[in-house]
Amino acid sequence: MAIHPDSHEVAERVEKRWAMLVLAIVVVLVAMVVYTGLHWAMMPPSRVETVRPETLHVSGEFIESNLGSAPESDGSVTVRVVAQQYSFTPQCLLVPAGVPITFRATSSDVVHGFLITKTNINSMLEPGYVSTFKTTFDEPGDHLMPCHEFCGVGHHGMWAHVKVIDRAEFMQMAEKLPADSRRLSCVK
Ligand code: CUA
Repeated sequence: MAIHPDSHEVAERVEKRWAMLVLAIVVVLVAMVVYTGLHWAMMPPSRVETVRPETLHVSGEFIESNLGSAPESDGSVTVRVVAQQYSFTPQCLLVPAGVPITFRATSSDVVHGFLITKTNINSMLEPGYVSTFKTTFDEPGDHLMPCHEFCGVGHHGMWAHVKVIDRAEFMQMAEKLPADSRRLSCVK
């Protein structure tokens, strides 16, 4: 078989072009990570807090009666959420607008995703760990909270709602509840 005299040169040129293309793609991806990290403040959680997933429902802060939105004495609101195959508890989170919100969430079985549309909250819920996020919703509205981490056959149907309401309305609803169990949600 005759080999073209320039074939070596051609191969080298083509290889170099592909290498440049791959390098360009890597540079674009790294730039995207840096941009979203700085501009949208998307950071991986930097602290580690553990919890026992097998006793989640029995004792501690993630028992069912303690889930939902709890007004704190400093004026902020803490929302506790548990994810399990294939739902979130509560299924509808009720929060006030213009108030600092701290989400404390974990999983009772496998890794789930935690994402609230139109916010910078986008993370994972891992069994054994408490994920915390802080945000303030500027105005009333509805947000979707889909699980975006493949967690099994029912993954596509796993999502919750976040309903942001007026601060005064929220506080009024909280006032009506007994002082020792002020936990709000919009689950009907
Ligand atoms: Cu839970 Cu996907």
